[in-house]
Amino acid sequence: MPVNPIFNPDGSDDVENRSIWFGKTTNLMQLNDVRYHWAVSLYQQMRENFWVPQKLDVTQDVVDYWNLTKAERHAYEGILSYLTFLDSLQTCNIPHIKSSITAPEVSLCMAEQISQEGMHNQSYQYIIETVIPSEKRSAVYDFWRTDKVLFRRCEYIASLYQRYIDYPTPERYFVSLVADFLLEGLYFYNGFIMFYSLASRMLMPGSADIIKMINRDELSHVRLFQKLIPEAMEIYPHSVDQIYEMFDAAVHHECEWTNHIVGNNILGITEASTHAYTKYLANMRLRSIGLEPLYKDEKYKKSPYAHLERFSDTKKEAHTKANFFEAGVTSYVMSSGVSGWEDI
Ligand SMILES: [Fe+2]
Ligand SMILES: [Fe+2]
Repeated sequence: MPVNPIFNPDGSDDVENRSIWFGKTTNLMQLNDVRYHWAVSLYQQMRENFWVPQKLDVTQDVVDYWNLTKAERHAYEGILSYLTFLDSLQTCNIPHIKSSITAPEVSLCMAEQISQEGMHNQSYQYIIETVIPSEKRSAVYDFWRTDKVLFRRCEYIASLYQRYIDYPTPERYFVSLVADFLLEGLYFYNGFIMFYSLASRMLMPGSADIIKMINRDELSHVRLFQKLIPEAMEIYPHSVDQIYEMFDAAVHHECEWTNHIVGNNILGITEASTHAYTKYLANMRLRSIGLEPLYKDEKYKKSPYAHLERFSDTKKEAHTKANFFEAGVTSYVMSSGVSGWEDI
């Protein structure tokens, strides 16, 4: 795969010559005239989603933590570790995908995505440092390495990216794009559901508020890859069967991990609901890139967690306002400056 040269005075960013890949960009962020208008709107929306984790109050969670059952605490910590791994991996890998993007407006969205993934790690760190007792924190950060099931899972997810880095062919770039879409579109959500499930029982509301904001950001990343993958299918060598195989493997791994860390041990979540939800999500993501659903059964047409997704408030096109149990504002749609920066 060609990687954009840093200085390229012979390139051209003319709209008529512009393409997402294999263009001849100068790297100048020429945004006055763009070819991909969706990217400009998406970037704007991502910026309007701006939020600061430390502004969200997790003091109730410090108390609640001790009232969780042993299984709930185990799931809470294990999922935090897994989410930290996912966002760390994204912070590391998106720059590799971005380095071959030749439309500045798309590159801009990825730059914002990288920033958000980094900030998501800071959010998990804020939760871990505030809620988890100090003597357990290292074990939570390290859980992705010490838990065998999670380690295998992380190894598989990273391996799809690593294959491209090791041997950067267009075929492997395409696989990396689909792998990214699976991460953004499938891998976070059983973990998010665990937080919403606790919050629906008035437990750990601050953590759920933070997860809600991360959830909203992740959906903007899903939208980015929903746009990129159909374009990529037009130009990269691939097979639809290969995409289905990747989806099926992703569903399998996601269920295996969720059943390992949550299982039937948290009120409102069962191994069966995890299966149904993961397949429902996979079908939805496939449809969004123009492919037929993989799981045909009627039960995969609806989310078993519709009652919890209302907590996530992500159906309202990124206009989340109130947090779980208070009327506090947790997103800042900016017009004239943002409060909270005075002390920086
Ligand atoms: Fe993220
Ligand atoms: Fe993301």
